[in-house]
Amino acid sequence: MRVLGIETSCDETSAAVVGGDAGSPALESLVILSQDVHRIFGGVVPEIASRAHLTALVPVVRRSMADAGRRLPDIDAIAVTNGPGLVGALLVGVSFAKGLAASLEIPVLGVHHLEGHLFAAALEDANAAPPFTALLVSGGHTMLLDVAQWGEYRLLGATRDDAAGEAFDKVAKLMGLPYPGGRHIETLARGGDASRFRFARPMLHGGQREGDADYYDVSFSGLKTALLRAVRDAEARGALEEERPHLAYAFQDALVETLAVKTARAARAFGRTRIVLGGGVACNAALAERVRERAVSLVGTGVTVHAPVPRLATDNAAMIAHAGLFRLQRGERSDMTLSAYASLPLPGLVPAAPANV
Ligand code: KG4
Ligand code: ZN
Repeated sequence: MRVLGIETSCDETSAAVVGGDAGSPALESLVILSQDVHRIFGGVVPEIASRAHLTALVPVVRRSMADAGRRLPDIDAIAVTNGPGLVGALLVGVSFAKGLAASLEIPVLGVHHLEGHLFAAALEDANAAPPFTALLVSGGHTMLLDVAQWGEYRLLGATRDDAAGEAFDKVAKLMGLPYPGGRHIETLARGGDASRFRFARPMLHGGQREGDADYYDVSFSGLKTALLRAVRDAEARGALEEERPHLAYAFQDALVETLAVKTARAARAFGRTRIVLGGGVACNAALAERVRERAVSLVGTGVTVHAPVPRLATDNAAMIAHAGLFRLQRGERSDMTLSAYASLPLPGLVPAAPANV
């Protein structure tokens, strides 16, 4: 089976062709057009994003077909992100996918954006397959999940305020770095001295026990405020320039430590030896490294951590095609009433249950 994937949920216009089957996918092409225009505004402007998808989508799809060396009759189905995301942006992709599928008389399938992120690492790494503990960290979402098998997702924890990527972006902004700021913070932090600043680890303390509401949840607004205070203080001392790398380091360190410990707790509780990362923040090498360290100490040396390569970690259509391929092979189809949703529950969510089940 060969699927054309389409992703337009935020500020990336992307199309991809994925063949084979869900268990051993063949990534035939992936085109991602990032809408740089939003940098001027320091964040994504929804209407501009929708219009940019509208002008870019047909050329992006054509390019991905050409890169794959395929023609439209070679496509068996179309998978398109239909939520969650910016609704105007999603509508462009969904309308296009339905029109193309109708004209080709092939199935169309709406894919949940975050299920796509779960399938990203498995495009290139056969070991990024269930059962695993998943940490999804993007600009819009932060979720800790146990994945017993594809399509069965137990939500263990989430952010109570900012998403991890959003926290990176806000902190980057207040430190005068370009949008999106995550990778700029990571670069700046490489020159940081770990002993200069230390921020409290948000929602993390030794007294937490499984079953406590804050055992798996995270929160980043307090950390952001602590950083803001430290920035103002450095500014008042006229030392901001020299302190910037140390501040970036301390912020990133507190954030990755919290995520890593909570992920390792989940792997231990469910007896998982694989941890899969997804979402744009999964590009952060310090995060992957810290997750590995904490998982090894809580679970054991047999734990492996699987992070997608950067172009598959950030928003892309290949992960949508892969998740779509899985659902199509299970016999799922959307009909022509398929719509787009700003928020959408992850399909296959199972109720939270006690660990070691
Ligand atoms: O998954 P994604 O492309 O879009 C959403 O679905 O939101 O994630 C984008 C987020 C942005 O907040 C960006 O700053 C962050 O991923 N990001 C990073 C890094 N690269 C991208 N955050 C930290 N370190 C990075 N290296
Ligand atoms: Zn995303």
